[in-house]
Amino acid sequence: MIDFHTHILPGIDDGSRNLDMTKELIQRERQQGIDKIVFTPHFYAQNENAQHFLEKRDKAYESVKENCADLTDGLEFKLGAEVYYFPGMGKADILPRLCMEGTDYILLEMPFAQWTSSIYRDVKDIIEKQKLRVILAHIERFYQFQKDKAVWSDILDLPVIPQINTGSFLSWKSRRFDIRFIKEGHGIILGTDCHNITSRVPNLTEGRAVIEKKLGASVLENIDKRGKLIWENEEI
Ligand SMILES: [Fe+2]
Repeated sequence: MIDFHTHILPGIDDGSRNLDMTKELIQRERQQGIDKIVFTPHFYAQNENAQHFLEKRDKAYESVKENCADLTDGLEFKLGAEVYYFPGMGKADILPRLCMEGTDYILLEMPFAQWTSSIYRDVKDIIEKQKLRVILAHIERFYQFQKDKAVWSDILDLPVIPQINTGSFLSWKSRRFDIRFIKEGHGIILGTDCHNITSRVPNLTEGRAVIEKKLGASVLENIDKRGKLIWENEEI
């Protein structure tokens, strides 16, 4: 099982604060049966130079490899980033370096606001001009901001891969959107978006159990097939 969205690397964003928490998070991921993890710390181009971010991220990763070797046996990691939308990003040449390691897949965090046609053009350019493949981080968190659904629909008509946080399946209120969205035919992948060991924890097993119960085992199988293709940088 793959966790495509995590904030496990220590001391780099609002996720894990230190190596001890990182160790605990890795242990919990293991207990959940996860064997592949993408490290996706937040990247905000508005606040930070990309080169600086990448150096900081690589350093945090090195410290995990050095200090957590006893926990990581049998686990595979890839470096990535959760890249917050910025105007003009369709033409930004830094994006390939922010993709999931060894792939053309980029985890994009959209604005928490009404999406506009210029946002649509940027997403389209990332795909068509930069030839990257876009994963939309926690798609379930943006629907409420789309009073006008036109751009939402246009973006979802692009060949994007929506990612849903497993935590959102755990309350009946938030899973209403998730279930409807999957039933509409959107091919999603899952991530825990875990940040810590108290409020935003690794909860893949619990989320998957809800999906299986509400939507059936074949939906989970398709999620896993899709995940495997992405991990291997294959096209879906
Ligand atoms: Fe996140």
